[in-house]
Amino acid sequence: MNITLIGFMGSGKTTVANALSQQLEIEQNDLDEMVLQRTGLTIPEYFEQYGEAKFRKLEMDNLQLALATGGILSTGGGTPMQANNFKLIQEANTATVFLNAQDNTITHHLIHDGIEERPLFKQLGIDGIIKLKHERQLTYEQLADVIIDVDHKSPELIVNELMEKL
Ligand code: S3P
Repeated sequence: MNITLIGFMGSGKTTVANALSQQLEIEQNDLDEMVLQRTGLTIPEYFEQYGEAKFRKLEMDNLQLALATGGILSTGGGTPMQANNFKLIQEANTATVFLNAQDNTITHHLIHDGIEERPLFKQLGIDGIIKLKHERQLTYEQLADVIIDVDHKSPELIVNELMEKL
């Protein structure tokens, strides 16, 4: 079974992918984690050294690799925003699940994780990041086969809901 999780940063893609992978005993890939595996750099370090444009190229490369591998895939919040990536996911043999979160859920998670974790949060601040979230919403909805509202739900509940809807 191939499942790709999409959604804004802080919507819980990585956490839900971990839970899904454990429950279904299917291999999992995380696009952000692949940056670390391939370059030895965290996302903030990579942005700092090479900038966003280079990150987007590497992200596309990682997406191609991960879709070819199959299994559970958690993307980065910006992954579907590149037209090429959107098409790659759309045409891949994968169910695409959008984890849809309200603004305050995102704000809460991002602040909890810390500003250093996410370079775009650091650059844009909370108002800018929520504006970006609204700009991206339609693209997530268009790409999704299934949409799950994640607010106030545990990863286990989200996984159960997801399995019912697939
Ligand atoms: C980004 C989201 C991040 C990471 C990078 C850019 C974005 O992933 O890929 O910081 O453009 O929304 P998460 O959604 O896992 O935080």
